[in-house]
Amino acid sequence: MRKGVIRPGHIQLRVMDMEEALKHYRDLIGLIEVNRDDKGRVYLKGWTEVDKYSLVLVESDTPGLDFIGFKVLNDDVLNGLKNDLIEYGCEVSEFPAGELDSCGRRVSFVAPSGHTFELFADKEQTGKWGLADINPDPWPLNLTGMKAERFDHCLLMGPNVPATQALFEQVLGFGLSEQVVAPDNTVVAAFMSCSLKAHDIAFVDCPDPGKLHHVSFLLETWQDLLKAADLLTMTETTKDVGPTRHGLTSGQTIYFFDPSGNRNEVFCGGDYYYPDHPPVTWKAEDLGKAIFYHELYIHPTYLEVLT
Ligand SMILES: [Fe+2]
Repeated sequence: MRKGVIRPGHIQLRVMDMEEALKHYRDLIGLIEVNRDDKGRVYLKGWTEVDKYSLVLVESDTPGLDFIGFKVLNDDVLNGLKNDLIEYGCEVSEFPAGELDSCGRRVSFVAPSGHTFELFADKEQTGKWGLADINPDPWPLNLTGMKAERFDHCLLMGPNVPATQALFEQVLGFGLSEQVVAPDNTVVAAFMSCSLKAHDIAFVDCPDPGKLHHVSFLLETWQDLLKAADLLTMTETTKDVGPTRHGLTSGQTIYFFDPSGNRNEVFCGGDYYYPDHPPVTWKAEDLGKAIFYHELYIHPTYLEVLT
């Protein structure tokens, strides 16, 4: 049952060289730089996003994920979910409004998978980039690179997938849209939605807690994906897999790496999810088909390179 979580709102990602990272996320993927703060963090957004930003880059000695924030409907929902998390047994902390640029207070917790999540209700809304509020054009001029539309989802790897799935279902109101099930019926991958999307977050089993597999940005069409692949070659960016199609969610995809080694995805298409849909099930022994529907096997780098 839905509990008032609306969407993935932001992700804070560690990069090892900010200017190199900006060439990648801003100039190649096409996100828009909107601000920098006194901690050296740089804030970016996809052009269709109404909130001020969705990607926060912070310079660090190691790549990886600091946290993912989900936006909730309002402050009452935020207070209710904070209490529900505490009652469920989660350790919860809180950041004051303004600690992250133009964002209200944030309620933070660590999932059984080892990943840090936060909930927030307020962030400054600056509207779709370059478009008027009244009689808007369909897209703005002067977009760059892949012209990514929005930050869409993350796939995270860590232990305790069933416990993490239970937390997201029971406390946060997500639904299980697709799953990968081992021969003993253990869920080894859970694709979860708080919206109509095929997934807003996905968890895949691995022994190391808190790992980022990829952060994904939406493109509009398959043709845009082909041009994105051209851009990866033109810019000598390290590719992982694709363009190809997933079995899981049936989206079309390319994977590649940012200069610090964080895996990115750009994707388009795919399935949709309503809360009454039963989960789509894939067998772990058919994981090749589930992940890469055309190739039918898992590329060796795909499950091994994590940040
Ligand atoms: Fe993805």
